[in-house]
Amino acid sequence: MSQSLFDKDTVDKNAWHLQGNWGPVEKELESSELVVKGEIPEGLNGLYVRNGMNPRSGYSDHWFFGNGMLHGFKFEDGTVSYKNRYVKTPYYEKDLDVMSSFGDLSASPANTHIVKHAGKILALEEAHLPWQVDEELETIGVYDFAGKLNGAMTAHPRICPKTGELLFFSYSMMAEPYLTYYRVNATGDLIQVEPIELPRAVMMHDWNVTENHVVFMDLPIISDMNLAVETGSPFGFKPECGARLGVMPRDGSNSDVRWFEIDPCFVFHPLNSYEEGNKIILYVCKQKEAMVGGFQEVYGGDTTIGRLWKWTIDLELGEVKEEQIDDAACDFPRVDDRRTGLKTDYGYCMTLDTNAESLTLGNHAHKYDLVNNKRFTHDLGKNVKGGETVFAPKSKDSDEDDGWILMLAYEEETEKSKLLIIDSKDFESPPVAEIYTPQRIPYGAHGSWMPK
Ligand SMILES: [Fe+2]
Repeated sequence: MSQSLFDKDTVDKNAWHLQGNWGPVEKELESSELVVKGEIPEGLNGLYVRNGMNPRSGYSDHWFFGNGMLHGFKFEDGTVSYKNRYVKTPYYEKDLDVMSSFGDLSASPANTHIVKHAGKILALEEAHLPWQVDEELETIGVYDFAGKLNGAMTAHPRICPKTGELLFFSYSMMAEPYLTYYRVNATGDLIQVEPIELPRAVMMHDWNVTENHVVFMDLPIISDMNLAVETGSPFGFKPECGARLGVMPRDGSNSDVRWFEIDPCFVFHPLNSYEEGNKIILYVCKQKEAMVGGFQEVYGGDTTIGRLWKWTIDLELGEVKEEQIDDAACDFPRVDDRRTGLKTDYGYCMTLDTNAESLTLGNHAHKYDLVNNKRFTHDLGKNVKGGETVFAPKSKDSDEDDGWILMLAYEEETEKSKLLIIDSKDFESPPVAEIYTPQRIPYGAHGSWMPK
């Protein structure tokens, strides 16, 4: 290990997350005169925003700790404009590092995801409170659900398309409760808070929601001071601690949680989950292990890359069936948000390069037909790397899969970024539009389509 983690003064400025298109951009810009190849669909009206790490000072001590920068594309009747803005939290204003931000729940990097619920747009990072921004991406302020949220909020809440509820959790690697469940009604009132018992503190990046249940993932990235001696970081992968899925009714509490053992693994991101009779089906990007060299090792070779797996939890028999669906490396999977927690026949994901020395995005996007176990490939072209695949339906009432895939891609040779619009029904054909931005967009995290 060449540096001590979390110490901004000893940052390795040659770290992978500061090189090439992982490195930050300097300017906040806006433009409505973008170079567009192809035609922007007339019916695509709304805002696509993607969040990601963009350290203000030019460097951060870990990929996860850069300042959140939002990249927004506003679509209106076949036209598009672009704008990027930092999320201006105390972490940004005071240019804090992660150690300085601990203890202040408002001092968020706000760099991981952005969602819209009950008319409010929230920028999220899992160790702090949400930050509200407006449709112009300007920061409004910290958001704590009228004082009812007293802990961090995951960057991966789920909005139920049937009830309009926002479901989320909070985890802590510092103190009990290590896990807390929250439910917010369709109008934005936080109506339920449930502490959930875990045997130990674990890192819990994402989770699963179905029509009647939530499923927590107790997976073994743990906090252990012995690891700090071995790897320089107190967080790391300990498969001997086991792995479990915790199924709870959405209005349930700790005593209602049923835990199911699974093979030790790690999942950053599930694709979707749903109920089928007495079974709960989960599609996840599962990796054999994670952070094997400590917290600073986001990528540690092939075993730390996700593949699509299906977990079937049989609530009657009390067991979990684990099946690998595909061997292609993938992550950041998405479905049509209107199908969150409901049966989905299709999923979309970005790919990863399995031969690289550091985390490297792939030059393909994949679409899965989950009913027929079929994979479709969209080739981005040589030396073009693409990020998360966000689905925008062609209309409010269009069928699942009848939509556009929005994917930010980077051309390594021209050093230009572009937003691709791919027809989901014609996934393997070239994009219908490629929208170039006035400044490159660093590889980042998650985004959302917010229809008008
Ligand atoms: Fe994530």
